[in-house]
Amino acid sequence: MIDLSTQYLGLKLKNPLVPSSSPLTGNLDDAKRLEDAGAAAIVLPSLFEESLHYEQKQLEKYVYSQALGNYEAESFHPVPADYNGELDQYLEHLLQLKASMEIPVIASLNGVTDSGWINYGREMMQAGADALELNVYYVAADPEETGELVEHRYVHLLNQLRSHVTIPVTMKLSSQFSSVGNMVKKLQLFGADGVVLFNRFYQPDIDLETLSISPQLELSSASESLLRIRWIALIRSRVELSLAATGGFHDVDSIIKALLAGADVVYLCSVLLEKGPAYCAELLTQLEHWLNEHEYESVQQMKGSVSQACVINPAVYEHSNYVDVIKSFHLKR
Ligand SMILES: Cc1cc2nc3c(=O)[nH]c(=O)nc-3n(C[C@H](O)[C@H](O)[C@H](O)COP(=O)(O)O)c2cc1C
Repeated sequence: MIDLSTQYLGLKLKNPLVPSSSPLTGNLDDAKRLEDAGAAAIVLPSLFEESLHYEQKQLEKYVYSQALGNYEAESFHPVPADYNGELDQYLEHLLQLKASMEIPVIASLNGVTDSGWINYGREMMQAGADALELNVYYVAADPEETGELVEHRYVHLLNQLRSHVTIPVTMKLSSQFSSVGNMVKKLQLFGADGVVLFNRFYQPDIDLETLSISPQLELSSASESLLRIRWIALIRSRVELSLAATGGFHDVDSIIKALLAGADVVYLCSVLLEKGPAYCAELLTQLEHWLNEHEYESVQQMKGSVSQACVINPAVYEHSNYVDVIKSFHLKR
């Protein structure tokens, strides 16, 4: 019997497959289906700073406009404590999951500013979250903002969250840092228990007829996994925190590669949205089969065995294969 278990954020997981934030984990029945299909933990959709601000504004507008009206209407004012807003719904979902599922549940917060939303991490912890994921989906669009300031934003938010919670915290990062490895080390220094590599940026597109710009949500493609695998291989032996791979993991081969590179877990999203929660079970069977065929006794044994520190030619993960790759292309005439 092969031991598929892995450690992630200090949690002992029965295997390395973790469905990441998506509408599937935001739905109680789907989340249970994921657990039935063998998922080792789930990450909830994020509670978004933007939605909380919008909701707060709507609430203020409503209360204010009612106050301008007649006196009787004031008795219908929603008092914030009674108001079943996004946060309450989020906590309710979390409580339901914790009451009906055995696997760890990781809650997620998304935001970029320093305005109090991050305090909600404590309420998530109190509602039973086993860990928290902080997703700072930030596009550094201002040319006046230096890379140092951008990095400081991440560290500052992590610090704030850390001061509110005692459960493990992981940060979901984009790949767009001058030095990804250094950024991860910095986050480790400031108390992150893990990082999730990498967030996908959804790209706005121009409609050529209307000239309007709209964001496009496209599911990932399998080729995106290679960027994640490379960076995990590069930093595995240089950091001590947990590493999760996310982005483009659609089949068992890419999952195996991420583990060989040094990932502790592999997040799944697009593939489960396309194929349904039951696909998780299929991937687990295939993973076990591969380990068996290649005479591994456990996931632990394979983890990191093809990281940069372990391969015979470490430079292939860096620059040196660039010229070879370029020269290997032959134009078909
Ligand atoms: C419909 C949808 C909703 C998502 N919602 C969130 C979210 O709330 N928070 C978050 O951190 N990531 C969210 N993601 C990103 C995924 O969790 C995942 O990291 C990303 O899609 C890359 O993984 P994949 O290639 O397996 O899809 C969402 C993705 C999709 C497609």
